[in-house]
Amino acid sequence: MLASLLAAGTALVPASVSAAPAVKPPLYKDASKPVFQRVDDLMRRMSLTDKIAQMMQAERNATTPASAAKLRLGSILSGGGSSPTPNTAESWADTYDAYQRAAVDTPLGIPTIYGVDAVHGNNNVYGSTVFPHNVGLGAAHDPALVQKIGRATAEEVSATGVDWDFAPCLCVVRDERWGRSYESFGEKPENAVSNATVINGLQGGSLNGPASVLATAKHFIGDGGTTGGVDQGNTQISEKELRAVHLPPFSEAIKRGVGSFMVSFNSWNGVKDHGNKYLITDLLKGELGFTGLVVSDWNGVDQIDGQPGFTPAEVTQSVNAGIDMFMVPSDYQKFMDYMKSEYQAGRIPMSRIDDANRRILTKKFELGLFERPMTDRSYLQTVGSREHRALARQAVRESQVLLKNDGALPLKKNGNRIFVAGKNANDMGNQAGGWTISWQGQSGPAIPGSTILDGIKASAGKSTKVAYDREADGIDQSYQAAVVVIGETPYAEGQGDRPNGLNLDPEDLATLAKVKATGVPTVAVLVSGRPLDVSKQLPWLNAFVASWLPGTAGEGVADVLFGDYKPTGKLAVSWPASATQEPVNAGDGKKPLFPYGFGLTYRK
Ligand code: GLC
Repeated sequence: MLASLLAAGTALVPASVSAAPAVKPPLYKDASKPVFQRVDDLMRRMSLTDKIAQMMQAERNATTPASAAKLRLGSILSGGGSSPTPNTAESWADTYDAYQRAAVDTPLGIPTIYGVDAVHGNNNVYGSTVFPHNVGLGAAHDPALVQKIGRATAEEVSATGVDWDFAPCLCVVRDERWGRSYESFGEKPENAVSNATVINGLQGGSLNGPASVLATAKHFIGDGGTTGGVDQGNTQISEKELRAVHLPPFSEAIKRGVGSFMVSFNSWNGVKDHGNKYLITDLLKGELGFTGLVVSDWNGVDQIDGQPGFTPAEVTQSVNAGIDMFMVPSDYQKFMDYMKSEYQAGRIPMSRIDDANRRILTKKFELGLFERPMTDRSYLQTVGSREHRALARQAVRESQVLLKNDGALPLKKNGNRIFVAGKNANDMGNQAGGWTISWQGQSGPAIPGSTILDGIKASAGKSTKVAYDREADGIDQSYQAAVVVIGETPYAEGQGDRPNGLNLDPEDLATLAKVKATGVPTVAVLVSGRPLDVSKQLPWLNAFVASWLPGTAGEGVADVLFGDYKPTGKLAVSWPASATQEPVNAGDGKKPLFPYGFGLTYRK
């Protein structure tokens, strides 16, 4: 019957009944509307539970896409080393898309925002371009270059879907015994102020632009000024000094439109930053007018009362202090339960919960996550690209600081016999440092790239012999130059604190001694996250180069050693004559081995 009616073209619905009106999408899904209206409309539709969950950031390994979506969690992060298997950009994009697909498939369809530490390139992903750490970039004194590095990093991060980069660290390192010294651009506020250009590289012209990722000004505030350089320690300074030394980079970050801030683990005069309303609300959001979102550090709330774990009181104190998003890798359910009960008890006002949600949702709308939630895989081709490797090489060249040279440098390319030695001459992991594939980094072939030895071999002419032995076994007086690459093995955060001195390790001392005994003119290259104590070695060395943590482009070091690039680097940290001088900084009246701003070049 129906078929014959249809065949006869009979209208099944009387002409008088018009087609049902198209269902209008809710205002918050209308990209033509101003963001603030979209936020207001969306928040009106959210329950208390939705809003509390929006303030939670869970670690990838402690949840699943389905569970995170079911709980309506606002954000996911990968902590250092938390990579999918296999660790490829495509696999990261698949992981990201799984979380995002689940998030947008919920009734309100609020996308998640995924954060990682891409602090010297997209260092979590195998095959990415790993740039020099900030301590080297600070020595380059080239903010325009640093902005380009930010852009390259944003592209390689976007290739994996990730929208939020917990970078840059705008810390001002005042004591190089601190394990995070290499994350600092230098000891003066202007080092971080001038290199805050990286924010514009990361965020692009607008957050909604191609490959833009949300940047994070961290760690607010005073992490580089703790007593003794103790990581997460106590910064015991006046407010005047805090404002003069540690605040300027954060003011600059706000001027440059940074979208998020991360609170610091340290205390300021005995009060943990994570519970300090004066710093987060009165100073940052009030006086400085920051309108973006403030995220806690990893379980940072737990430290407020000095006891393990967090209590309802700590939850309340940190929420009311002005933190908007809570990086609670695994105990997020308990945190949400406490927040709800504290709200119901009247100790957390809804106005604070609304302020946090408004800030978080504003960034998600501005990033375009509601319109384009999934990975733009067109950026996969940028991961480890030739163009980014060339940029990394230039950054390595500009970050090398020549501290001594009696003429041994530049090395002759032709008709030479060069012996290369040292634990850091042929070790990608050591030259990349911490925050590389894993949180702490690791020695050995951790990432693809060129070691310093690779660079030397590639630069030397055919008529030059380049020999290598890590311990300098086999060196003799037939060689015209020895290049000994020494320094540190990788570390991150507190595991890199050096309360017992900044001496070279026994292996380096043994290698140097063996080379010294031959009388071969010796160039020492220090691959480290900070200055080390070389006072005893310097007098007999013919040349000495601070290479910092160069990353994948070891050839950039060779460019300087052979004079293909004349060294231009200048110290962004004072070089102590010994660890007992720390803290040593420009203007403090002490006489360092090399002063801030020191750096030689080649005469000819
Ligand atoms: C770490 C660091 C912080 C990082 C965060 C997420 O503990 O302090 O710099 O962004 O946790 O990995």
